[in-house]
Amino acid sequence: MIETSCSALLLFGATGDLSRRMLLPSLYALHEDELISPDLRIVGTARSEHNDDEFREFARNALAEFLPEDRKDEAKLASFLDRLEYQTLDASNVDGFGDLAKKLGDTSCGLSIFLSTAPFLFEPTIEGLKRAGLAHTNVRIGLEKPLGNDLASSTRINDAVAAAFAEEQIFRIDHYLGKETVQNLMALRFANMMFEPLWNAGGIDHVQITVSETVGLEGRKGFYDDTGAMRDMVQNHMLQLLALTAMEPPANLDATSIRDEKVKVLRALRPAKAEEMVRGQYRTGAVKGTSVTGYQEDLGEASDTETFVAIKAHVDNWRWTGVPFYLRTGKRLSERRSEIVVEFKQVPHNVFSERGGRLRANRLVIRLQPEEYVRLQVMAKEPGLDRGGIVLREVNLDLSLTTAFAKARRRIAYERLLLDLIEGEQTLFVRRDEVEAQWKWVDAIRKVWADTGMEAKPYAAGSWGPNAGIALTERDGRSWND
Ligand code: BG6
Repeated sequence: MIETSCSALLLFGATGDLSRRMLLPSLYALHEDELISPDLRIVGTARSEHNDDEFREFARNALAEFLPEDRKDEAKLASFLDRLEYQTLDASNVDGFGDLAKKLGDTSCGLSIFLSTAPFLFEPTIEGLKRAGLAHTNVRIGLEKPLGNDLASSTRINDAVAAAFAEEQIFRIDHYLGKETVQNLMALRFANMMFEPLWNAGGIDHVQITVSETVGLEGRKGFYDDTGAMRDMVQNHMLQLLALTAMEPPANLDATSIRDEKVKVLRALRPAKAEEMVRGQYRTGAVKGTSVTGYQEDLGEASDTETFVAIKAHVDNWRWTGVPFYLRTGKRLSERRSEIVVEFKQVPHNVFSERGGRLRANRLVIRLQPEEYVRLQVMAKEPGLDRGGIVLREVNLDLSLTTAFAKARRRIAYERLLLDLIEGEQTLFVRRDEVEAQWKWVDAIRKVWADTGMEAKPYAAGSWGPNAGIALTERDGRSWND
């Protein structure tokens, strides 16, 4: 265990958007709650020229904009800003890392690095760190996506990182794993007796995972157009949600046990067929009453990049044989929503049918955001004397996490992930074999797109995606939870 008392956190991309919106507010929250050692220095680095004071000013502005009001405390803010330092660095030039090392001083008792950078700078950055003596055994490195854009490039990056750091020092970030409700999925499954006996092909008809967004390109034109929904969302966040939903119970919560179970699921994913996938791209439409332009207008040029994808996935193992996992994600959809829906099988025999009672299968809805709840839809009899027949209706057994834990502060994912990185806790980070299994499955899908010339189907902004996405479930006699 590395002592944090004389250690430092080094933030690459310190003046970027992620830093402004997420990293600095998260670090401030950890500081305010006294969860990080008072001696931990936070050193920001980026290409832009700043001195310490200018970076502190940048951070002050970011916090003014992105901290919730009840977090703002002038005294704490001043002591937080005191921790911050800055070193200009052109990461494409290994020579600059000497000055960075000088600024950091003695890091022998612990250095945590948060690296978020353009893919082409990964390798020079790792090389620069190594040459400047910033890759010793007391260094941990957190890697923010994108870590490559296919298996080959991801392998290259992973090899470059592995040449400087051992796997125990590498923390691959998938910010979905830092979300409270995602961790609650494990609590739901493994801290309760009632779900697990049914959590298999015997009890479950299918699973749906939706991550829908109302936002469009958000000023990330170049990146998004080169990436698309499949690589931006499915390759990482959605497959991690799938793995946590489908994995076997781990023996305990340690990083190896959990990641061993997840990787088995990811390796059991069956290569998808052309008829099991849909690509889409938004056109002009209206999102929540506001008209918005289409993707290609937003981009300013013609493009076939997908902003929506729906896939029928299969996990080929004993537990999940015959149980499809429908995945869908997209930009400019009807609402912002991340959820996992588990639909159970119908009861084997409907004893109410002769009296007119119709049954619907139970559904467990795990809503990750924007609300946080777990809702079990169960059948109940409508009150009455039933002379005209029995009316059965679906009612919700509701567990609102926001209400049940009203006093607990909701923390953003990066608060937990940064703290885990500083403390060296790897459970919520993605291991190399997981990332590679994810890419393998995604690359095979993209190959089908290329081989069949599959085009992105248009959908109106503000809808639930192209009709073909809806048909993906409907033709199996199932429906999305809209
Ligand atoms: C990021 C994607 O990883 O996740 C973005 O690059 C997406 O395109 C974001 O908007 C969604 O994250 P969240 O936490 O808002 O659901």
